[in-house]
Amino acid sequence: MSVIEKMSSDEAIVLENNFGAHNYHPLPVVLSRGKGVYVWDVEGKKYYDFLSAYSAVNQGHCHPKIVNAMIEQAQTLTLTSRAFYNNKLGVYEEYITKYFGFDKVLPMNTGAEAVETALKLCRKWAYEIKGIHENDAQIIVCDGNFHGRTTTIISFSNDENARKNFGPYTDGFIKIPYNNIEALQNVLNSTKNIAGFLVEPIQGEAGVYVPSEDYLAKAKTLCEANNVLFIADEVQTGIARTGSILAVCGNCTCENTCEKQATYVTPDILILGKALSGGAYPVSAVLANDSIMNVIKPGQHGSTFGGNPIAAAVAIAALNVVNEENLSQNARRLGKIFRDKIGEFIKSSTIASLVRGKGLLNAIVINDTEESDTAWNICMALRDNGLLAKPTHGNIIRFAPPLVMNEEELLDCISIIVNTLKQFEK
Ligand SMILES: Cc1ncc(COP(=O)(O)O)c(C=O)c1O
Repeated sequence: MSVIEKMSSDEAIVLENNFGAHNYHPLPVVLSRGKGVYVWDVEGKKYYDFLSAYSAVNQGHCHPKIVNAMIEQAQTLTLTSRAFYNNKLGVYEEYITKYFGFDKVLPMNTGAEAVETALKLCRKWAYEIKGIHENDAQIIVCDGNFHGRTTTIISFSNDENARKNFGPYTDGFIKIPYNNIEALQNVLNSTKNIAGFLVEPIQGEAGVYVPSEDYLAKAKTLCEANNVLFIADEVQTGIARTGSILAVCGNCTCENTCEKQATYVTPDILILGKALSGGAYPVSAVLANDSIMNVIKPGQHGSTFGGNPIAAAVAIAALNVVNEENLSQNARRLGKIFRDKIGEFIKSSTIASLVRGKGLLNAIVINDTEESDTAWNICMALRDNGLLAKPTHGNIIRFAPPLVMNEEELLDCISIIVNTLKQFEK
């Protein structure tokens, strides 16, 4: 047994504190193993994972089909860069574009890189196709957004903690309130040179804010009428998390896994990450049709690792699992049970005031101030009771388990959550 396997939780935490930058504030639990909906700490205690690595592990921890695809490819060819062709990338590109119904994909690694890619693509389209004068393009974004951590992306964040002392910031973004169609209409009417509208179909990091039913469809219609690109950031909401393959859905070939609704829209640019690999590997993607994607020419954008053979093999396996295991339907069905049961408890609760979400992306609002540490303390108690979750903002706790959970496990989790909340009743 290696030294690392013998290490206690306390020792592992000390090491991270001493030698790692303090850019996160993790819940004190040290995980060493995962399988399906479960993770184990170094002392062997078993937990339900109710975060799924911020919705990356939708297919469950260490899914054998994804792991095997990764091992097989890792033993064959790992990285060629895009200086040469490889025999996996084209196969993946055909697979993912047909899966989501777009002409082309641009492969990247992390969510933030994919968002950056979409912003660059949108600007280039604006100058070369729409005819906006160079450097004048504006992209509309929403208050409360979370799209990643790069200098450009934090330039349009409202989160002072994410922004402060990282300036100077990137220009060219206009912020409007989320879920407010009039605000979008007003800015489109009053401002010239709008190139795109970047939006999360549900604001996950902000606290799982689900917009009104028709918001995205109306926003898409407005964008179309104004020749503005509708850019959907589905890094967190995508890949079955919200009960359909995408939260906005669209032309994807998922008729057997989602209930098409009139309110679903097709984005002009779709951004994916996280669960595109089932959490096994950093894989992200930007999808668009030729009229947009073809503005990018050789040398104008790229990444050494983007589209590497392991990523390609892993993403195909991860998307296959979503279909084979009906993860969209499972997320939709279990999500409803979660909200119904927690909603029932909340009726007579003094500590929890609201449950909201879609599919298995949900949040419980804790009845205390944003500055209080009650949500954190509840997460500590949940940990002690065998379930891992984390506050998003202040008094909001996000609940996003792997989508491979079954009903019996969900009911067990609901009783852990309810019993833990009862410990905090005022
Ligand atoms: C909506 C959204 N976009 C982008 C990102 C950034 O992804 P990454 O952390 O892989 O850069 C996240 C991460 O949580 C996200 O939720």
